[in-house]
Amino acid sequence: MSRAARPLEPEPQELEAQTRAVAEFVLEHLRSLDRQPSFDLDGVEALRASFREAVPEEGRPLDGLLERLEAAIVKSYNTAGPGYLAYIPGGGVYASALADFVATATNRYVGVAGAAPALAQIEETAIGWLARLMGLPPGARGILTSGGSLSTFSALVTAREECLDEDFQDGSIYFSEETHHCVSKAARLAGFPRASLRALPTDARFRLVPEALDEAIREDRSRGRRPFLVVANVGTTNTGAVDPLADVLGIARENGLWVHADAAYGGFFRLAPGGEALLRGIEECDSMTLDPHKGLFLPYGLGALLVRDGAALARAHRGTASYVQDVAEEGSLGSADLSPELSRDFRGLRLWLPLMLHGVSAFREQLGEKLALARWAYEMLRDEPRFEMLDEPQLSVVAFRLRGPEAEADRLGPELLRRVNERRRVFLSSTRIRGRYALRICVLSFRTHADRVRDAVLALKEEAGALLG
Ligand SMILES: Cc1ncc(COP(=O)(O)O)c(C=O)c1O
Repeated sequence: MSRAARPLEPEPQELEAQTRAVAEFVLEHLRSLDRQPSFDLDGVEALRASFREAVPEEGRPLDGLLERLEAAIVKSYNTAGPGYLAYIPGGGVYASALADFVATATNRYVGVAGAAPALAQIEETAIGWLARLMGLPPGARGILTSGGSLSTFSALVTAREECLDEDFQDGSIYFSEETHHCVSKAARLAGFPRASLRALPTDARFRLVPEALDEAIREDRSRGRRPFLVVANVGTTNTGAVDPLADVLGIARENGLWVHADAAYGGFFRLAPGGEALLRGIEECDSMTLDPHKGLFLPYGLGALLVRDGAALARAHRGTASYVQDVAEEGSLGSADLSPELSRDFRGLRLWLPLMLHGVSAFREQLGEKLALARWAYEMLRDEPRFEMLDEPQLSVVAFRLRGPEAEADRLGPELLRRVNERRRVFLSSTRIRGRYALRICVLSFRTHADRVRDAVLALKEEAGALLG
């Protein structure tokens, strides 16, 4: 008999009441999303301090805890709301939350197929869908990760294992200077020294220059290094640039290099109308990072790595131990054989359920809309003489800065960003491109439609007018 006032196995009525309370809490939050500010950090430090507390010896009622949570949730960047146009948004399709609830409440183990064969199959099927949607052949395999950074880490380890031996310090990795920093980080974690990293120049549209790749490979060879991997961008974070995949693949093939596509942000635009032509070549890559928590609008915490030759993924990650002998299936590979993880959540369900529930067509429609909205924002800003556009959108990022003397534009840019965000209708972020301050609009949340994009552009025009006179 439990003596705790709130035992770990509550009475059925209590469980039901808790479940209903959480559902109502979430639904109420979602119902008001459209009216919530795009960010709100007012007074958050005191609120934060209130969460620095000791572990309670006795439990507390759920209602009060939910109230505290709601207070904390609203004091943040509203990354789920329609006005979130900063960094790389996604929104968080609700079906994934339902999936997580089912997955964690039923708590099955899917890391080895033998423990829950049909559930492991759900995950394998969902990963297979991603591979087909990206145009990869049937031998491709993949894993679901917590995000792009870890997918990239596993990709680099796989390429390293396939192309080099245990003495790999002389291996060289090529990528453009616009590449996400998770690539250098993954290389470091995979044991490569700084000398292995070759950041190459980009052209006027921020795409890797193929001649520079060719030259760097030759130069490295002549110095006795072993070129083995090129990372091509399918949508950079700064401007959404897509590297010239056909040229990169050609050079890589001539030189026996593995081609990894960082398609974390951009890969799913292949599903949009015209997307296959836009990203032509992605289907030829040896591996790719894809982030369903970006381009499929799912909640944070779901990345994917796809590898053309699935056996390579297994060669890099497989481990054996006698204590898993009961569930290890001869000749079959569970996700634990393909990834660094063993025990983990049933995260495949948060991909499978939205795709089953909405169908791919719903995602295609959204992705097409996002491309069109970014172009529309670009055209409206381009027509305003106070802005200097850095590129036409290749995908759904619009990057720009204030026109005028460099120092002045760099000084006023942050103030413009502050003023636009302070209206709290939209939330934008900034970056530095070739050393200079730039603002970005990234349209990727499924909740963002024309009204917010128009509000963003209007706010930018009005505030730029007020700043520059
Ligand atoms: C192009 C690109 N690659 C990789 C990543 C890293 O992904 P994650 O934040 O999911 O680790 C990002 C994140 O924004 C990205 O934009």
